[in-house]
Amino acid sequence: MQIFETIGALRAARTAYPALGFVPTMGFLHEGHLGLVRRAKAENGAVAVSIFVNPTQFGPNEDYASYPRDPERDLALLKEAGADLVFLPTPDVLYPPGSATRIDVGGVAEELEGQSRPGHFSGVATVVTKLFNIVQPQRAYFGQKDAQQCAVVRRFVADLDIPVEIVVCDIARESDGLARSSRNVRLTSGSRQKAPALFQALQGAARLFRNGERDVEILENAMRAVLIEAGLPDIDYATVVNADTFCREQPCSNNALALLAVRAGEVRLIDNMPL
Ligand code: PAJ
Repeated sequence: MQIFETIGALRAARTAYPALGFVPTMGFLHEGHLGLVRRAKAENGAVAVSIFVNPTQFGPNEDYASYPRDPERDLALLKEAGADLVFLPTPDVLYPPGSATRIDVGGVAEELEGQSRPGHFSGVATVVTKLFNIVQPQRAYFGQKDAQQCAVVRRFVADLDIPVEIVVCDIARESDGLARSSRNVRLTSGSRQKAPALFQALQGAARLFRNGERDVEILENAMRAVLIEAGLPDIDYATVVNADTFCREQPCSNNALALLAVRAGEVRLIDNMPL
């Protein structure tokens, strides 16, 4: 496993690989990330991973400073998972003084997380485009955990004609259903006990949907009730949207996706489930 901090050194090493899978991350790795790395390795023969807590995708009142970081542990986990190239840039490397370009994605990026976190997807699109240009992978692997991020990446890759295939992988969960996330370590023990309610609320909506319910309000209210009952009333959104457009439809289409964003103390949790 080779580790690089500069764009030039990574580019030079990259030429040795005819095909490369790529997994962009913000580090503090868990089984969700490692599943993407193993799959990328299996499907491409070699895999590059980036670890970069991207400042441009955090709002001024968000958790950029307190986002968990542990590069030593991450590197040990990546070695074990079979990573070939690891890119660990500092903010100065990706955003040198004078850097002034941002990618602004419309459509799907304007809904839900786009409303709750202004500028977030512009930061994601900008850094992921830069990383694609630096790493030049054949395929890049993203998690369904961030369903809207996957849709945004597919959108700008198509719109900007970036020659990369986007692969979306299933959500890795804890045994009690909580979606794995780097931010979970910041949950207090009380919040950690309540957090599986997100998965339960999504499962409840999926059950109703299977039984023929297509009224979005009924599905949403059912999810809200589970969250409130569990002691998680600070709901950013609990909604059902068209999985392609992320627009809310009443009644919902058969191609529906239930999505949650909930604050548990200091930590904002997101989760989703195709219905
Ligand atoms: P990060 O939150 O570190 O996630 C990196 C990748 O791992 C994303 O594609 C995310 O969807 C995936 N992932 C996270 N938790 C997962 C889980 N429980 N199951 C499956 N996959 C999971 O997402 C980002 O970083 C950043 O926005 C990034 C794309 C790196 C741009 O900065």
